[in-house]
Amino acid sequence: MSEIKGKVLKHSEQTRTMHWVHLICFIILGLTGIAFYFDIAGIVNLFGGEAAASDVHHWTGVIFTLAPLVYVLFNFERFAKFIDTITTFTKDDLGWLKTMGGYIPFIKAEHIPPQDKYNAGQKMLGLLVIAGCILMIVTGFPMWLLKHSMPPVLVWLTWKIHFWTAVILILAVLGHFFLAAIHPKSRVEFASMMIDGYVDAEYTSHHNAKWFAELKKAE
Ligand code: HEM
Ligand code: HEM
Repeated sequence: MSEIKGKVLKHSEQTRTMHWVHLICFIILGLTGIAFYFDIAGIVNLFGGEAAASDVHHWTGVIFTLAPLVYVLFNFERFAKFIDTITTFTKDDLGWLKTMGGYIPFIKAEHIPPQDKYNAGQKMLGLLVIAGCILMIVTGFPMWLLKHSMPPVLVWLTWKIHFWTAVILILAVLGHFFLAAIHPKSRVEFASMMIDGYVDAEYTSHHNAKWFAELKKAE
C-alpha cells in the first residue's frame, strides 16, 4: 500500500491528468454549448466570434474524445478495475443509498455500511458520466461532420439528444463539484483528484472501509 505519513494514494498521476484534461474540456464545451443555445454574444465573443467558438467547440470535442481513449490504452487494468467497481452494487451500496451516506440532513443515517473505493453515489455518478459522455460524442460528431448528409429527422434527433444530455451532465457535474469541493464532509478528498493523489488513511479506513481492507491485505 502506497502510504506516507498517514496518507494513502487514491488516484495515480495519469488518472489525475486525465480528470484535469476532461474537466477543462468540459468547461469549454459547456460554456460554448450554452452560448450557442441561448445566443449569448458575451461568451461567443470571448472565444473569438461565432465561427471561432464553433471551431473551439468541435476541436475541444476531439480532445474530449481522444483523452479517455489514450488513458484507457495506457491504463487498461486500472480502467477495468474502475468499471468493475462502479458496476458492482451489493447490499452495502443499497444501504448507502437508503441513508444517502449521511449527506442529506433530514435523512436519518445511524449506520452507513462499508463502501468500496467509491461509495454508491459516486458509482452512480461514474456510470452517468460515462454514458453521458458517450452520448455527447456519438451525437456531436455526426452533428459536425454529417449534418448535410443525414435525413432531417436524424439531424433533429441528434440535436435533441445532444442538448438534453448536456443539460443532465452539466447538472450532474455541478452536484459533483459541490460534493468534491464545497461540502465540508466530502471535500476532504479534494486533493486526491485535484492535487497530489493522496487521502487521509484514517478517514479512508472509515469512509472506504472495503477498499482500505483490500489495500491492507495486499500489503
Ligand atoms: C460534455 C460535452 C459537451 C457539451 C456539454 C456540449 C454542449 C453542447 C450544447 C449545449 C450545444 C447546443 C445545442 C443546441 O443548440 O441545441 C452543442 C452543440 C454542438 N456540439 Fe456539443 N457538447 C459537448 C460535446 C460535444 C462533442 C464531443 C462534439 C463533437 C465534436 C460536439 C459537437 C457539437 C456540434 C457540432 C454542435 C452544433 C453547433 C455547432 O456546430 O457549433 N459537442 N453542444
Ligand atoms: C467541476 C470541478 C470538478 C471537481 C472539483 C472534481 C473533483 C473530483 C474529485 C475530488 C474526485 C475524487 C473523489 C474520490 O476519490 O472520492 C473526482 C472523481 C471523479 N470525477 Fe471529478 N471533479 C470535477 C469535474 C468533473 C468532470 C467535468 C467530470 C466528467 C465529465 C468528472 C468526472 C469524475 C469521475 C467519473 C470521478 C470518479 C467517480 C466519482 O468520484 O464519482 N469530474 N472528481
